[in-house]
Amino acid sequence: MSRETGDNLDRNQSGNLPMASVMDTYLSRRTVMRGSLGAAIAMIAGTGLTACFDSGGGSSHHDDPVTEPPVTEPPAKLKLGFQSIAGSRTDACVIAAGYSAYVIAPWGTPLNSNGNPWKSDGSNTSTDQANAMGMNHDGMHFFPINGSSDDGLLAINFEYIEADALHPNGPTTDGTGKRPVEEVRKEINAHGAGVVRLSKVNGRWQVMQNDPLNRRFTTASLMDIAGPLRGTDHVKTKFSPTGTQARGTNNNCGNGYTPWGTYLTCEENWPGIFVNKGVRPADQVRIGVSASSGQYKWETAAGDASEVNGEFTRFNVTPTGASATDDYRNEASTYGYIVEIDPYNSATLAVKRTALGRFRHEGCCPGLAVAGKPLVWYTGDDSNNEYLYKFVSDAVWDPADATPADRLATGAKYMDKGKLYVARFNADGKGVWLLLDVATPTTAGSTLGALYGDLPGIILNTRGAADAVGATPMDRPEWTAVNPLNGDVYLTLTNNSARTAAKVDAANPRGPNRHGHIIRWHDSDDHKSFTWDIFVFGANAAGAPDINRSGLTELNQFASPDGMSFDSRGVLWFETDNGETTLTSYTNDQLLAVIPTDLVDATGKQIPVNAQNQVDLRRFFVGPNGCEVTGISFTPDNKTLFINIQHPGNWPYTDKATDVTPAGSRVRPRASTVVIQRNDGGEIGTA
Ligand code: FEO
Ligand code: CA
Ligand code: CA
Repeated sequence: MSRETGDNLDRNQSGNLPMASVMDTYLSRRTVMRGSLGAAIAMIAGTGLTACFDSGGGSSHHDDPVTEPPVTEPPAKLKLGFQSIAGSRTDACVIAAGYSAYVIAPWGTPLNSNGNPWKSDGSNTSTDQANAMGMNHDGMHFFPINGSSDDGLLAINFEYIEADALHPNGPTTDGTGKRPVEEVRKEINAHGAGVVRLSKVNGRWQVMQNDPLNRRFTTASLMDIAGPLRGTDHVKTKFSPTGTQARGTNNNCGNGYTPWGTYLTCEENWPGIFVNKGVRPADQVRIGVSASSGQYKWETAAGDASEVNGEFTRFNVTPTGASATDDYRNEASTYGYIVEIDPYNSATLAVKRTALGRFRHEGCCPGLAVAGKPLVWYTGDDSNNEYLYKFVSDAVWDPADATPADRLATGAKYMDKGKLYVARFNADGKGVWLLLDVATPTTAGSTLGALYGDLPGIILNTRGAADAVGATPMDRPEWTAVNPLNGDVYLTLTNNSARTAAKVDAANPRGPNRHGHIIRWHDSDDHKSFTWDIFVFGANAAGAPDINRSGLTELNQFASPDGMSFDSRGVLWFETDNGETTLTSYTNDQLLAVIPTDLVDATGKQIPVNAQNQVDLRRFFVGPNGCEVTGISFTPDNKTLFINIQHPGNWPYTDKATDVTPAGSRVRPRASTVVIQRNDGGEIGTA
């Protein structure tokens, strides 16, 4: 999310110094054992290609205790098959030659017949909205039906609202400062996530209205709480005195998925919907719950005669009753999680998987699933100077679980019990995963158990726990992506205006960081350590050498990388959410592609994007004025690419994404999914 509603403020008062020489018990056992994992993954991928890249500080991996597999070329070298396009600043999408793009499932598209069709005057009701595509499409994932590349379920996030477009004449309040309940309900229903059946009909993808699997999750939908927080005092409310259920998901930004066919939606800037006018507990201060007013003032509708079960009251988390089960003081503690959705079974509730931490989750990309090894998910906390986290399951992967009878029971098996880690990036190109659990020592000589009591207390205060163990403050961690060819993990660090020149470190080396960068790492087999390097620096082509460190040109200059995914062939695709003026004066937000395993030195070792190889980083797509390009998913055959256009200014004019809104015309803007296909029907992006 960009625009003013994105709250990425620096609330990290920990003083964690990235390069602080903090004594740490993990340092003594940070043996890097990446060779064995590399070998295992290479066998799976069948390429024989190992993860090897410069580690920034010049240290090599050759002190590994396990012999590394030989470095060989992949059998058939993948190559990008399109030419980079110039930047664009129009009310239209622009795409590489040989490709076409059309709009599907824009905001307000009905999923069933329980509401009215979308109306261009903004007059749809809250009920219409609850039965239609929400607003500001973000992360998404395509789940095929029976393995098909022509028929499947798109699970998708609706991050936030553009209130001016949502209502006929923008949001209103009455003379006493109260929001009208119908407007509030419409806003609540425009947030969240959804599942929509998409099928190709006569060669063109269409929304299958009234498919029984179509459904919406809003900021009011009933959900289960699972994992360490379930049933604890932290999440007991008047609505759920047992602390086992919650209502709604909000500000769903990036996404993830699981090897058993479920969708993960990530709660990012949700603190903005709450207000606490009393004494805010430490976790609410650290995460940014307001002391004065909710972002949308939903709490002002409380007390309306039509209010059901405190549906508006719950956004004011100021204690008012005798205990937590008499009011909604804990309502905010039911937000900030990874939420699992079974797209294939509409009878199931969404489940908040609290073991994966509580913060402003951006995405949740899985690591490679290896039989007999734990499963892993990577998840960033997108605010200035926040952290990168990883969850490692206690259960080891059983490939039979890829097609379970009960997907959410499988989710419980792998996602409710495990270890939550936070990353520290050291200057020598190595790093440490710091365990967030009761026995973990803090840099001040205490333990997390002494600070927060138990694991539920630690999770509730994830940011504070990460502060206490000396994690590395990063330049706004957005999405993660895992290379299917070798298990390397990539993280977009979108920008950080709050990083001063005095506070740069090896992993975040520019201050202020206006353009962002992409860092990557490879985990050790025991998940306790990693080696890392910076893959590419965002920059304007004309930037000084210290800014344009990757030698970018007009044809691939970018800033503020955000959405990101590998396709199954090993092409890395990343999207931008940029507000840096040298770039915005050249181009709207964009989608670029690069094949990291193609960028190698003479010995076959992976290297970053640089002035010599930068032609292999190519701009594939540019969005319309005002938008952010986000969300990305492929069909299994890689012949359809779905991306999202979020918060466009004056688009779409027609369902042809590349049609320009004529000068002088104003459309009610609609965030939309865009379907990209190659005109000759081939795979997207490659030769
Ligand atoms: Fe919702 Fe971090 O972008
Ligand atoms: Ca984002
Ligand atoms: Ca962003």
